[in-house]
Amino acid sequence: MSRIVYVNGDYVPEAEAKISVFDRGFLMADAVYEVTSVLGGKLIDFAGHVARLHRSLGELEMAQPVTDEALLAIHRELVARNGITDGLIYLQVTRGNPGDRDFLFPDPAATPSGIVLFPQSKPGLANAPAAKTGWRVISVPDVRWGRRDIKTTQLLYPSMGKMMAKKAGCDDAWFTEEGFVTEGTSNNAYIVKGRRIITRALSNDILHGITRAAVLRFAKEAQMEVEERSFTLAEAQAADEAFVTSASAFVMPVVEIDGAVLGSGKPGPVSVRLREIYLEESIKASV
Ligand code: PDD
Repeated sequence: MSRIVYVNGDYVPEAEAKISVFDRGFLMADAVYEVTSVLGGKLIDFAGHVARLHRSLGELEMAQPVTDEALLAIHRELVARNGITDGLIYLQVTRGNPGDRDFLFPDPAATPSGIVLFPQSKPGLANAPAAKTGWRVISVPDVRWGRRDIKTTQLLYPSMGKMMAKKAGCDDAWFTEEGFVTEGTSNNAYIVKGRRIITRALSNDILHGITRAAVLRFAKEAQMEVEERSFTLAEAQAADEAFVTSASAFVMPVVEIDGAVLGSGKPGPVSVRLREIYLEESIKASV
């Protein structure tokens, strides 16, 4: 399938999309990104993703190349031109192409930031069979940098974590630091004890998930107890349930951690209910 993608102002077939070898996103991972899901042709929590994009750009003193209104229009145009019903829109803003390799940031007046967006079609994204069986995860040490709250494209270690999980016959890896779980390779991590949902508090240690914010809001509205604090791997292995959240997995139950089976070994009732509520409410609010 040849996609239409958006590159610095133009909609082009993917084979014709070009980025300079001097682009700092390519050379230095000097770039931030967002992934917004599309369900039924509409965008899930677009406002949340744009708000986090502002934050990531602000922390790195990078200019936003187009307005928020233009971003929405580009997302919608890519959905329409590529006939996306269910899937994802990937957005990346880079510090641009200064014409050479240099560790110093270029003068933004001379080097405008760059922008790329492309769609990924994933029919039936909300009905992933894995949600019925749950994920099995391994733990790996969190050796990422100290600003995980900025959504940069430095994804080598998360990719390595996914590979380690795959080699172990599992679905994902949870990062741990000083015995505590930080988050998954590309998702936020939760455990459930009784009806209480426990997840690490926001800090520079984890990405401030957009799905996380929505799920915690819905959980509180459904009178579930939410506790934002760190938890150890051992506590997770002894929990009743666990799950992860992200724009691409929504709420995904976790049934095994480093070989320890949680509860019955099937997705737990809190995780299953939260997934239902999240999908129902966010589809209602999609734009
Ligand atoms: N990943 N933590 C990390 C490290 C992530 O990469 C992500 C998202 C999340 C969840 O954030 P959100 O709910 O806003 O998607 C948490 C995206 C989906 C990705 O890299 O594909």
